[in-house]
Amino acid sequence: MKLLIKFILLYGLLCTSAHAENTPPSAEQAAAKSPAQQMDRDSVCTRCHDENDKTPVLAIYQTPHGNKADSRTPSCQGCHGESEKHLSGSKGNSPDVVFGIKKGAYSPSDAKDQNTACLTCHEKDQNRTHWQGGAHQVADVACTSCHESHAAHDKVRDKRTQPDVCFTCHTDQKAQVRKFSHHPIGEGKVACSDCHNPHGSAGPKLLKKNTVTETCYTCHAEKRGPYLWEHQPVTEDCATCHTPHGSNITPLLKSRPPFLCDECHDGPHQSKNPAAGNAAGMQGGLTGAPSANYTGRACMNCHSMVHGSNDPAGALLQR
Ligand code: HEC
Ligand code: HEC
Ligand code: HEC
Ligand code: HEC
Ligand code: HEC
Ligand code: HEC
Ligand code: HEC
Ligand code: HEC
Ligand code: HEC
Ligand code: HEC
Repeated sequence: MKLLIKFILLYGLLCTSAHAENTPPSAEQAAAKSPAQQMDRDSVCTRCHDENDKTPVLAIYQTPHGNKADSRTPSCQGCHGESEKHLSGSKGNSPDVVFGIKKGAYSPSDAKDQNTACLTCHEKDQNRTHWQGGAHQVADVACTSCHESHAAHDKVRDKRTQPDVCFTCHTDQKAQVRKFSHHPIGEGKVACSDCHNPHGSAGPKLLKKNTVTETCYTCHAEKRGPYLWEHQPVTEDCATCHTPHGSNITPLLKSRPPFLCDECHDGPHQSKNPAAGNAAGMQGGLTGAPSANYTGRACMNCHSMVHGSNDPAGALLQR
């Protein structure tokens, strides 16, 4: 196997030196490349960069970028640029594009230049139509801050390892998903990218859908209704009551009922029962049981259908 690779590389080297300084291939030629010819293109670089590099670069052949049977596959130079000066091997001349965020032998190129190299092929992809103007583009985050192009396993594209990539920058969310009530993100069942499109979106906060609520419906479809009796804030914005990443008040609540409810309802039973004017607003008024709305599920002890009711008698969200 090793021998075969050596042979291919050597063969490529001969071919490229024979074609040295030639003009770029025509579109027709490029399209007609066979797998062996695809490997040849890379030999201008792989004659020096091979498994012996500190970071093995040849693992790229185990990724979609190394699918040599696909004529759209980028060559080394397709990403790193022609890099003529670097090819001569003289120290101090970096390739045209040096990716990544950490300084290695050379300083990385500007995020803009790195991204341009990727976008020449990926700008038209459906998922990246909102890259320009998206929060990450605006903040000069590089594609390679998230993606590892030479690794056989691109961590950010695996649900289980993706959060760690995001957490390197988003420490608030890292703390939130560890709270008592949380989406099973750390458990590898829900990924950040189930709700967000990190490449940009038409919605707020890089959400995949146009609103928070539409995003929630993608998994909690039953909350969409239609309900005979709707609860207005539910149809408006799930985030009025819930926080998406984590909370110590289960289930993912922003504050504890009855306070959560009181933010809008302002002691409903109190006003109905002026005689029972205590803080709970319930005493004697409805059941005679004190503070029923401060115990257990509070208001939901009675108004159990907080997201809406389909019962003809459910106008008060009680059934
Ligand atoms: C003549 C040998 C030679 C050729 C040909 C060559 N390189 Fe290099 N390249 C080097 C050396 C030497 C370094 C410095 C690496 C080091 O010190 O570890 C380097 C460094 C790099 C780095 C930066 C690594 C880092 O740690 O920052 C990149 C990226 C790179 N080369 C890409 C390429 C690409 C792409 C090609 C083909 C277009 C190519 N090289 C062709 C010798 C070569
Ligand atoms: C010369 C064109 C070209 C360039 C430049 C390029 N790519 Fe790609 N990329 C492709 C092709 C072709 C595929 C395979 C797509 C497919 O199968 O639909 C691909 C696949 C990918 C995938 C995986 C898609 C999948 O479905 O598995 C990722 C992630 C990706 N590219 C990121 C990048 C990043 C990051 C850069 C810049 C460092 C980059 N690409 C530069 C052509 C390119
Ligand atoms: C903030 C992190 C982040 C940045 C920055 C980022 N990506 Fe991605 N990328 C992801 C994640 C997460 C996925 C997996 C999405 C999924 O599974 O739905 C992905 C998937 C992809 C894919 C394959 C699936 C698809 O959406 O087509 C391609 C291609 C890709 N990214 C290219 C790029 C390019 C090009 C850039 C730079 C312009 C870039 N990415 C910047 C996180 C990022
Ligand atoms: C899809 C675009 C793409 C292609 C094709 C590509 N590279 Fe890279 N290269 C990158 C990115 C991005 C990095 C930064 C490290 C990473 O993401 O794995 C990188 C890093 C490197 C490094 C520095 C490694 C390090 O981390 O110190 C070398 C050397 C290199 N590439 C050489 C090559 C060679 C040789 C080829 C052809 C076999 C090649 N690259 C093909 C995108 C590409
Ligand atoms: C269940 C869907 C969902 C998941 C999963 C999710 N988010 Fe969010 N995220 C949201 C919503 C909704 C908002 C907007 C919150 C609001 O408007 O109150 C948001 C907001 C954000 C914000 C902006 C915060 C601010 O205050 O502006 C960041 C950053 C963020 N999320 C990162 C992440 C990261 C990183 C992950 C993965 C660890 C992740 N999110 C997983 C739904 C989600
Ligand atoms: C290299 C650092 C970095 C990484 C890695 C990163 N982000 Fe970000 N992200 C930023 C910066 C910078 C901003 C813009 C400033 C801010 O809002 O904090 C941002 C903003 C956001 C926002 C808020 C958008 C808005 O409109 O306010 C969301 C959501 C987000 N990122 C999600 C993600 C997800 C999901 C991942 C992982 C797939 C990720 N980020 C990975 C740096 C990063
Ligand atoms: C990608 C799918 C997905 C999306 C999108 C999603 N969720 Fe979830 N949600 C889940 C899963 C999975 C669970 C855990 C269910 C379980 O443990 O049985 C969950 C649980 C919950 C819980 C209960 C938490 C607990 O502690 O019991 C609430 C509340 C919730 N989600 C609200 C939301 C809101 C609000 C949104 C929109 C911002 C949203 N979800 C978007 C998948 C999703
Ligand atoms: C008015 C405040 C409020 C709004 C708005 C709201 N919820 Fe809830 N949600 C709650 C409360 C309170 C609970 C706990 C119910 C209980 O204990 O009976 C809950 C529980 C949940 C649960 C877990 C239990 C279950 O019923 O499955 C999910 C999932 C959920 N909500 C999703 C959503 C989604 C999706 C939206 C937006 C469409 C939304 N919620 C809007 C208050 C709200
Ligand atoms: C963001 C504000 C808001 C929050 C928070 C809120 N509600 Fe509501 N609620 C409303 C609005 C608006 C209506 C419709 C009122 C109307 O039609 O007169 C409503 C209607 C109701 C009704 C039906 C009564 C009626 O007059 O139609 C009940 C019962 C109810 N809410 C209970 C709750 C409970 C229990 C909670 C806490 C889990 C809660 N609400 C949290 C705004 C809110
Ligand atoms: C012990 C059962 C019970 C509990 C606990 C309870 N309610 Fe009620 N609620 C009722 C009944 C029965 C009615 C209808 C009778 C009435 O109008 O007084 C009602 C009516 C309402 C109404 C509509 C009438 C109005 O006054 O606007 C709202 C809103 C309401 N409740 C909100 C709440 C909130 C918020 C809580 C928690 C602080 C709560 N309820 C706790 C049983 C309960």
